[in-house]
Amino acid sequence: MSSTGSESDTSRATGRSRIALLPGDGIGVEVTNEARRVLEWIAERDASVGLDFTQFDWGSDYFIRHGRMMPDDGLDRLEKFDAILLGAVGDPRVPDDVTLWGLLLPIRQRFHQYVNLRPIRLLEGVPTPLAHRQPGDVDMLIVRENSEGEYAGQGLFINQGTPAETALQIAVFSKIGVERILRYAFTLARESGLSVTSVSKANALNYSGVFWDRVLDEVQTDYPDVPCRRLLVDAAALHMVLDPTSFDIVVGSNLFGDILSDLGAGLVGGLGLAPSANLNPERRYPSMFEPVHGSAPDIAGQNLANPLAAIWAAAMMLGHLGFPQWEKSIVGAIERLLASGRARSRDLGGQSSTTQVTTELLAELAASSLASPSREEATER
Ligand code: NAI
Ligand code: MG
Repeated sequence: MSSTGSESDTSRATGRSRIALLPGDGIGVEVTNEARRVLEWIAERDASVGLDFTQFDWGSDYFIRHGRMMPDDGLDRLEKFDAILLGAVGDPRVPDDVTLWGLLLPIRQRFHQYVNLRPIRLLEGVPTPLAHRQPGDVDMLIVRENSEGEYAGQGLFINQGTPAETALQIAVFSKIGVERILRYAFTLARESGLSVTSVSKANALNYSGVFWDRVLDEVQTDYPDVPCRRLLVDAAALHMVLDPTSFDIVVGSNLFGDILSDLGAGLVGGLGLAPSANLNPERRYPSMFEPVHGSAPDIAGQNLANPLAAIWAAAMMLGHLGFPQWEKSIVGAIERLLASGRARSRDLGGQSSTTQVTTELLAELAASSLASPSREEATER
């Protein structure tokens, strides 16, 4: 683990990582609890994994009480942490643009979390809506630009309240922003011997799309060894369904990456199995790990949510904090659990509760080589 900055130096000196927990709203609270359970289970068994949690009650309830999603100095407080683990935000009582712009997007932007990694992998035992597809056929990593593009928050309303009312949403594509996300994708592809699919829309988007492809031309000259194809985003959606085997690393703008990753999640068991990492690759600021799904008000508070996306996100966090072996162990345990069919939440066609899924996952982890099997097994809470 390489970190910079005085706060991180402190944590490196003590060998412990400070984790800010932001459960947020709805099932975000439930799945974050489960992710924390897994992290604490590991920290109890592996002395090298020191995790100090600080939980924040920011979110929609906080908004209703205080008129904002987090305190004014919220970002300053978060900056001192090594990583942030987020559940989800969103509440029927608060407009969605308020919840998103009040918490999630400011964190991503202020901490320069310009890479959003979203693994899309079909696991054994998980039903896919694609006929005749096996685990291994769908295994891709979406590298989404996470700091600008269509979600830059720029635009205006004109002629408001008149029949000529018009909204302008301005997408921001900077040279620095496009180049760094492309380089991140190409470097990852080179390191892992994989191909890159760049997703754009240069026919219709005659500024941002053309610019993306032009920067790609330049970046590609530094990676002649990395196979790369270019797809228009609509064609990419079609190919993901018809020929998912042809995708390894998929790089695209904020909006395109967002949409394609939900499509991808739909191919591999739904949002309950879709994790994501918002990375500040330079490690100047904390990175944030979260399930892709939202607060799911339809099932919130009923112990029905699938916790595996959040647990997988926590695994990615451990990888980022310097414990890739534990990331591998957790993902392996998720795979074996789903393959065994021992616990499956309702979204995957099973009957298990949120907490039961975690309990079975911990049993699976206990059986793996890294964990000490002599220690007591986790029990249902
Ligand atoms: P959602 O992801 O919350 O739910 C979509 C559907 O998937 C629902 O039927 C839900 O029950 C199901 N689902 C989602 N996660 C699940 C899980 N772990 N286990 C089982 N089923 C699961 O998206 P929706 O309904 O569009 O949005 C609900 C709220 O969440 C809105 O306020 C929205 O703005 C917010 N949201 C927040 C996000 C975030 O914080 N990153 C991301 C997406 C939505
Ligand atoms: Mg999304």
